[in-house]
Amino acid sequence: MSSNNITKTTLESFRDAFPALKNLIFLNSAGMSPLPDPCRLAMNGLIEDIGKRAYLNMDNWIKTIALARKNVSELIGAFPEEVAFIKNTSAGVSLVASGLNFSEGDEVVINDIEFPSNVYPWLYLKNKGVKIVLVKSEKGRIAPEAIKHAVTPRTKVVAISSVQYISGYRAELAKIGEICRANRSLFFVDAIQSLGVIPMDVKSCGIDFLSTGGFKWLCGPTGIGIFYCNKTRLDNLTLNNIGWNTVINSQDYSNILFEPKPDAMRFEEGSPNIIGIYGLNESIKLLKAVGIANIERHVLELTDYLVERLLSMNFIIFSPRKDGEKSGIVTFSTKEKEKLTILEKKLFAENILVVNRGNGIRVSVHGFNNMKDIDRLIEVCQGVSKQVI
Ligand SMILES: Cc1ncc(COP(=O)(O)O)c(C=O)c1O
Repeated sequence: MSSNNITKTTLESFRDAFPALKNLIFLNSAGMSPLPDPCRLAMNGLIEDIGKRAYLNMDNWIKTIALARKNVSELIGAFPEEVAFIKNTSAGVSLVASGLNFSEGDEVVINDIEFPSNVYPWLYLKNKGVKIVLVKSEKGRIAPEAIKHAVTPRTKVVAISSVQYISGYRAELAKIGEICRANRSLFFVDAIQSLGVIPMDVKSCGIDFLSTGGFKWLCGPTGIGIFYCNKTRLDNLTLNNIGWNTVINSQDYSNILFEPKPDAMRFEEGSPNIIGIYGLNESIKLLKAVGIANIERHVLELTDYLVERLLSMNFIIFSPRKDGEKSGIVTFSTKEKEKLTILEKKLFAENILVVNRGNGIRVSVHGFNNMKDIDRLIEVCQGVSKQVI
């Protein structure tokens, strides 16, 4: 059996883990992925356990949380002690934006096509006299050269998404990391639109802080996210959310001694979302078993095919599609605007789940999708493109 065949079989059994795919043509992982069975069963199992035995299995929970932290750290190329479980991506952006010690006149470089989570916490710093520098996108891309041009000796942070939520543009993280290092700026990445579908290595990209939620490409539940803090940057962040679990002696309630943990666990101020961690851990294990590089290869094959077919029918592609800049997200539109609404309605009626973003249709393709899903979408597009209105 060739390695391609092995991957094909692996991808097929990956698909089988998602019961929702039996009824839906699901093309919206950039929105919210369906839950795979191992994730759902792990969460259900834990709920059953707590229902029947209260906290008597707590030792197991603690072991599973430690394993989950290790799995997450391997997924992003970090050390387990650099990973904190948080509630969502936004919480991680705020940990950095509100934790760094800004002085009046400091600058933060963002761009004009970020999702609001990676905009508002930075804009709020205007209160402290921080200047927000907005890099202008060009056709859905943020050129590293434009970031290089935007940084100054006052740039404290450069913040960007690994993949843009509308255009699907994949940022050149290693290049941006180099720009940050050369300029002595910190580098923050919102990784929710790539983690699980595109390999990530925080160290080689020079990323200082990374945040993500579990419910998109990681195929986990909502309410659980991941925060990475490079261990050399731990003390750059002032703690704003403090609780019993922030400190080294967190179990010694009667001995008040404020000494924050020497690792990223200091950001987990109180009781963890154990159910969420159980679910996310199983989803990550599943993704890792398929192999993120295998998933990426498959997704790029499917999206290349999709783009080729859409172009042949005269649809307009918004997403940058050169090697190195493409991702699992393809956003497209019709030349005649009325047809966009017709197409959206038709797709929904056919149980094909996509969404409207940036005045176009956003299709997001994961490793569990197959050629049949794409062909079904294309068939509906074909029908609408031929329709006379
Ligand atoms: C780039 C990006 N960041 C963040 C989020 C969501 O943030 P959170 O995990 O805080 O809900 C989304 C989408 O919902 C997104 O597309």
